[in-house]
Amino acid sequence: MASIPLILLLSLYALYAAMAARISPLFLDLERPASWLRTPFDTSNYGKLQLNNGLALTPQMGWNSWNFFGCNINEKVIKETADALISTGLADLGYKYVNIDDCWSSLTRNTKGELEPDPKTFPSGIKALADYVHEKGLKLGIYSDAGAFTCQVRPGSLYHENDDAQLFALWGVDYLKYDNCFNLGIKPEERYPPMRDALNSTGRTIFYSLCEWGVDDPALWAGKVGNSWRTTDDITDSWESMTTIADLNDKWASYAGPGGWNDPDMLEVGNGGMTYMEYRGHFSIWALMKAPLLMGCDVRKMTAKTFEILSNEEVIAVNQDPLGVQGRKVSVGGNNDCSQFHMLGNFRFGLVLSLKTGLLLLYGTVVLKLSRLQPNGKC
Ligand SMILES: *[C@@H]1O[C@H](CO)[C@@H](O)[C@H](O)[C@H]1NC(C)=O
Repeated sequence: MASIPLILLLSLYALYAAMAARISPLFLDLERPASWLRTPFDTSNYGKLQLNNGLALTPQMGWNSWNFFGCNINEKVIKETADALISTGLADLGYKYVNIDDCWSSLTRNTKGELEPDPKTFPSGIKALADYVHEKGLKLGIYSDAGAFTCQVRPGSLYHENDDAQLFALWGVDYLKYDNCFNLGIKPEERYPPMRDALNSTGRTIFYSLCEWGVDDPALWAGKVGNSWRTTDDITDSWESMTTIADLNDKWASYAGPGGWNDPDMLEVGNGGMTYMEYRGHFSIWALMKAPLLMGCDVRKMTAKTFEILSNEEVIAVNQDPLGVQGRKVSVGGNNDCSQFHMLGNFRFGLVLSLKTGLLLLYGTVVLKLSRLQPNGKC
């Protein structure tokens, strides 16, 4: 049943793209398409809303420690993960950020009031780790919190923005994930910009990833503050959590674009809570939504199937398409919404892009993969 509208939509898209291409020199002089056609692909806000630090022209790719390791991290794990990103070839596919999440720091600031790496788990310090990662052509990410404490009750950076940003820059950090725990009830719109300014004034280019869990609709204001903003609560490793989050994130599609992205949280692919087909759906939907592709599994020990999903170059190409349009869910069918059709691209540029890079065909491939999703065999 769901396949009829799917085929219809696909044909319409192909037809429209073909027409647009044929008349493209004229098309610019014509009236703009009706708003129902235009809005899903509106790129008129690009550049106006985004943070001007030159980063995030496409969604960030890499790895983060939290989804698999939680608090059980140490410098050996981080180094071995960097090694694995290189040896598996994942770094060459774009996975460049090695991001340390919560629990890297000591429980208290030192006598000078500075953040300090936990001496038991990170005895060599963050600077040494950054040097190690940089030598491999990778980038190092760190974590702090726009509150009094981090979620695991390490010192937070609220009212320490300048000192902490200077320290991160001194260490050679390239990325900051900034969480929302113990926020003293102060609005995120007040707590997040000071860290943007502090990072900027270090002079070091640092990716700024907002993590206020979508509580104050950050898509509406965070474009000028960060390079990405979480739109939802934390993901868990289940089909229900993943699809719920995807639906919540879908709503903000028109606010994403080069420089700033909606972040529906990190990938769970390879962590064991979903089936192979479900993980394929997870990865495809994240790619289509122009979500950050931050792997959350133990890349040192990933299975061949996990690697196959995460290294799918066609899907990665959709995510990293420089046009930067977030795909929208336009049709849903089947039990548990398991047939989904996501649409992306700009009608006017769809075919031009595809001629250059073959992307139209690739979009088609992804759509077919999605439409064949069979979670729990219930479709
Ligand atoms: C700081 O902000 C200015 C103004 O937006 C921008 O031009 C500059 O590139 C930023 N610098 C860094 C290091 O992010």
